Amino acid sequence: MADTDRQIIAVKDAAEMARMAAERIIARIGTGDGRIAICLSGGSSPRQLYRLLASDSWRSRIPWDRVHWFIGDERFVPESSDLSNMGVARRLFLDQCAPASNIHPIPTLGANPDDGATRYARDLQSFYGAEELNRGRPLFDLVLMGAGSDGHTASLFPGDPALDETARWAVGVPKAHLEPLVPRVTLTLPALGSCREMLFELAGTDKRAILTRLLNGENLPANRARSTGGPTVWLADCAALPEGFRSS
Ligand code: 6PG
Repeated sequence: MADTDRQIIAVKDAAEMARMAAERIIARIGTGDGRIAICLSGGSSPRQLYRLLASDSWRSRIPWDRVHWFIGDERFVPESSDLSNMGVARRLFLDQCAPASNIHPIPTLGANPDDGATRYARDLQSFYGAEELNRGRPLFDLVLMGAGSDGHTASLFPGDPALDETARWAVGVPKAHLEPLVPRVTLTLPALGSCREMLFELAGTDKRAILTRLLNGENLPANRARSTGGPTVWLADCAALPEGFRSS
């Protein structure tokens, strides 16, 4: 395969994808005995994984006290809304399993998305212990990602200036390019990339067209998101993978 720094792993279906993502999260947590930072993603793709992590057999494998949970992007709505990415993660697993002080939502009750972004960057910087990212010391242990039908990832949309941000860790996105059309806050490529592993989940026939474009190397946000501190792994199921990629 042409891509040398991205690994594509083909899985049978969405259920196998959720199991494999859960195994990778647990393996990543097992690489150290200190504090672990996981950055979650929004949208519908990770929901099966979130439910799995709350189930008895998986829940008991996670040392909840030392794992901190962040979110890669957020819709600018209250956490009680079904549109809230962290709200969904909380309802599906975090609120039942994680100590409240280990859950780090993007603030969405302030004046505007820029304000939420500034406050979240501060939360991240205080967790990280510095205001500048150091390439040798990733911010996150694992960053979970998805890709939309236009190739966006997190809330980094094609052609949006947020994509080219090099200094800030999080920015406000006043206009989403796809449903739900609510303002967003997103982590930037440097912040998302500061991780020991970046893990994409792409499942279902709806993802086949965009996955084909991404695998053909189009310059789209999801192709620009790469881990700078470890592997970038794409889990894709048979329904999403174009022919020719199914056995990689
Ligand atoms: C969001 C996201 C977004 C998502 C993709 C895929 O807030 O919408 O975080 O980047 O991961 O749009 O979404 P689906 O999993 O719903 O297809």
